[in-house]
Amino acid sequence: PIMLSANDGYKLWLQYYPIENPQAWQQDMLKKVSIAGENETLDIIKNELNIAAEGFFGQNPSFSKENPSLVIALKEQLPSYLASKASSKLGEEGFHIFSSDNQTVITANSQFGLLYGTFRLLQEMQKSNPLSETGIVDSPKVQHRVLNHWDNLDRTVERGYSGFSIWNWHRLPRHIDQQYLDYARANASLGINGTAITNVNANALILTPYYLEKAQALADAFRPYGIKLYLTARFSSPIEIGGLETADPQNEAVKQWWKDKAKEIYEYIPDFGGFLVKADSEGQPGPHNYGRTQAEGANMLADAVKPFGGIVMWRAFVYSENTPDDRHKQAYNEFVPIDGEFRENVIVQVKNGAIDFQPREPFHPLFGAMPNTPLMMEFQITQEYLGHDTHLAFLAPMYEEVLKEDTYINGEGSEVAKVIDGSLHNYSLTGMAGVANVGTDRNWTGHHFHQANWYAYGKLAWNPWESSEKIAEDWIKLTFTTEREFVEPVKKLMLNSHEMVVNYMTPLGIHHIMARSHHYGPGPWVTGGGRADWTSTYYHNASEKGMGFDRTLSGSNALEQYTPELQEKWGDLDLVPEKFLLWFHHLPWEHQMKSGNILWDEIALHYQKGVNEARENIKTWKNLEKHVDKYRFEHVLSFMEIQAEEAEWWRDAVLLYFGQYSGLPLPEGVEPPK
Ligand code: GCU
Repeated sequence: PIMLSANDGYKLWLQYYPIENPQAWQQDMLKKVSIAGENETLDIIKNELNIAAEGFFGQNPSFSKENPSLVIALKEQLPSYLASKASSKLGEEGFHIFSSDNQTVITANSQFGLLYGTFRLLQEMQKSNPLSETGIVDSPKVQHRVLNHWDNLDRTVERGYSGFSIWNWHRLPRHIDQQYLDYARANASLGINGTAITNVNANALILTPYYLEKAQALADAFRPYGIKLYLTARFSSPIEIGGLETADPQNEAVKQWWKDKAKEIYEYIPDFGGFLVKADSEGQPGPHNYGRTQAEGANMLADAVKPFGGIVMWRAFVYSENTPDDRHKQAYNEFVPIDGEFRENVIVQVKNGAIDFQPREPFHPLFGAMPNTPLMMEFQITQEYLGHDTHLAFLAPMYEEVLKEDTYINGEGSEVAKVIDGSLHNYSLTGMAGVANVGTDRNWTGHHFHQANWYAYGKLAWNPWESSEKIAEDWIKLTFTTEREFVEPVKKLMLNSHEMVVNYMTPLGIHHIMARSHHYGPGPWVTGGGRADWTSTYYHNASEKGMGFDRTLSGSNALEQYTPELQEKWGDLDLVPEKFLLWFHHLPWEHQMKSGNILWDEIALHYQKGVNEARENIKTWKNLEKHVDKYRFEHVLSFMEIQAEEAEWWRDAVLLYFGQYSGLPLPEGVEPPK
């Protein structure tokens, strides 16, 4: 095992730890490198090769054009005998890595393609994966791969659990902290090409010159890494910072104000990505305030950034002030009727599920339902409803479950991933957003294993078809070691961890029973608080008769928003996967489950299973001590202990609460509450 210091969690999956017993190809590859041309991105590539070679072998490459072992050049710069070997399908950001005689070549059509190719080659070296005959040809399947930071200007982070915001507004624009560059580098190593640096619950001040100057400094720092900057636009900004009396999107002065504002922003940041907007939701102002549609609101902003090549990411997380019969239906009801009314530089950003980043949700019914409006996926990387920083939950399986679900919109094989990569509806814009989990903690993400969720998001944004298993295995190897005795058990633990959390929090389709407001820990008893859908009882409907949210015809009929194939499957008690049972159905406590147990027993057994699994993880981890550095070993262990204890807390609280209604004893195998 390699010894790391307390700071090495900071190095994420870019550890570049020594390669023991390197093979000849590994040793030779980085000896002599030729890089064609000079610019900031090529400097970053050079620097990366230096850090990696130093870490792998304790020596630096020499950079020379004579007999190089590694050639890094744009396709147009390659000699024709090499250019002819390069793939013709690289697009703007793709790359091809291949061997020719005794050389390895990384080529692309752009410098960012070269950067991505370099990172990939170094990852393959760390994993000791030799290049195949054909090499590696890869390009992103999604255009806009963006992190969303819910960071406030006072450096608090909404739903952030890893310290404060990494943007130090006070020191900007003069001081560029090394952490900004390390952040950009980590993102580039995954192919993330955009970042929205401010909270969707936006503060209009970010659009004033005082902050734009600071945002400019960040954009300048990110640019050589291929990362564009986006800002959140508060819909009422024309009033708050523009001195207008209205923010009505049909008002000429308001339209002009946004046009002027966009022009001003582009003077600071010539490649500004565009706006991310949360409107008409949870107190945020929006077009509804003026009786206008979401399209009218979005189009006004789209027209403002259009001349400069910007886009608008308009969130579908819109819900009205009034208590709905089922919040599940709101976004669909609001957006489907205006499909096709958005400008071509608008992309509607939809959360993975219809409620709110629950530990498990069926996919959002908007996916597939808007063939004429590009939709992008919004995943939450930060673990608002998944135990915050201390509960280990590897989220790739959760993302994968949603991406691979079939919408049946154009018949079988209409997976959500095809909406996201644009192939299902021929979208001209595609994107994926991830609500970031990084902060000032020295390992960035609080839990060391939550670095894997940032990594997984990046990999899936690049390729929504990537498998969780590959993502987990690669991340472990890059972050810790390639030793099988470590990789295999840790991979197993990670791949099961999301399901484990679902088991002890919200099994069988139960949802939104977290404690009020902070959403950490159980709160199935939460009532009151402003509106019905901000309570737990609204979602679980427990009574002596049973529990669950009836979304079939006899209930809210939210099921109607899915295709007939899914209505049939999810509406039928024999066909619905049990993981979605209480999401769509209200059932008596004695309902017979497939296992032969009654519903109550099955619920209780799931909670116990989650507890058992959390305890088991501690044992597994302890057995791996000799493979891990002391600092990360202890850190992870203490968090696992918190998790196991809190899994019990979840089990006890939820079973005591629902037990009042079921009136039934706990089944054999479930420990009595403490
Ligand atoms: C959730 C979360 C809020 C956030 C909102 C959003 O409701 O609790 O903090 O602002 O999602 O996505 O806009």
